[in-house]
Amino acid sequence: MRILGIETSCDETALAVVEDGRKVLCEFVYSQVEHAEFGGIVPEIASRQQIRKIGPLFQACNEAFPLAPNTIDGIAVTCGPGLVGSLLVGLNFAKGLAYGWELPFLGINHLEGHIFANYLSDDSILSPFICLIVSGGHTMIVKVNDWCDYDVLGSTRDDAAGEAYDKVAKLLGLGYPGGGRIDSLAAGGDPAFHRFPAAKFKTGGYQFSFSGLKTAVAMYLKDKTESFIGDHLADICASFQARVVDMLVSPTISAAKDHQINTVAIGGGVAANSGLRREFERRAAAEKIRVFFPDLKYCTDNGAMIAAAGCYRMQRGERSDFSLTATPYLPLIS
Ligand code: KG4
Ligand code: ZN
Repeated sequence: MRILGIETSCDETALAVVEDGRKVLCEFVYSQVEHAEFGGIVPEIASRQQIRKIGPLFQACNEAFPLAPNTIDGIAVTCGPGLVGSLLVGLNFAKGLAYGWELPFLGINHLEGHIFANYLSDDSILSPFICLIVSGGHTMIVKVNDWCDYDVLGSTRDDAAGEAYDKVAKLLGLGYPGGGRIDSLAAGGDPAFHRFPAAKFKTGGYQFSFSGLKTAVAMYLKDKTESFIGDHLADICASFQARVVDMLVSPTISAAKDHQINTVAIGGGVAANSGLRREFERRAAAEKIRVFFPDLKYCTDNGAMIAAAGCYRMQRGERSDFSLTATPYLPLIS
């Protein structure tokens, strides 16, 4: 089964054709750069850029892999969560294709796409597993009982981890999005340079909170001179990253142990973080847990993960109808 996957939930326009959920036949991603000067996503610009880019991207895809009703079997498209204007561009594009080509289409939850990035990247991953979804908009621990069968074990109370990276990058003048930039700088810094506080919770469970950490970084920087910050940029990044990594890894490993599950997978843009990958490998080895990360290009938003999830569900006979609409706050389990 060959599925065209369309992803336009935020500031990436992405298309991919995937065969049987794992073989990527072609893929294109356009990442918007227009938000950098505003230090964050401007929804109005995001949706307008989606409209400008989706047509040319479809043409590029068509040149790499001829798209026609007899070369693909269906269309999978992100229908939420995300920015409503951005989502509507991909969703309506998918509906147009499905109608014109008389092909089935299916709406896919973006968060499920991040889980399926692991399915796409490694065919040795088997359910059940614990999945940490860690992106610009979400931070949650999901128990994947089977593909498409989930229990949400915990999530962030405020900011997502990627959001914390982006906000701290902004404080440090590193541009937007700043996760990758902090990650590279952290590689050359001392993680013990400054101890940023960890969030503490009165109730148990697998919880995250990053807004306090972001404030702690802001307070720390307040009385520092520009030259001090410049001299210790790598150390500050490494100290911030060490704290984020610990705040992500510890509850995920605990969730696996508490549920007697010996496989952990990570998904979402922050799963590209080198410090996070290294620490997961170290802690998982110590606990005899297998850990999976998607290929780097499938951590951040892409069309292949949507096609992979779409393929899996369409093989089970699932279809959407033309009344499907974009749902900005679509939960993983509805
Ligand atoms: O999954 P994604 O592309 O979009 C959402 O669904 O939100 O994730 C984007 C987020 C941004 O916050 C970006 O700063 C972060 O992922 N990110 C990283 C790295 N690469 C991307 N954060 C930390 N380290 C990285 N290497
Ligand atoms: Zn995402």
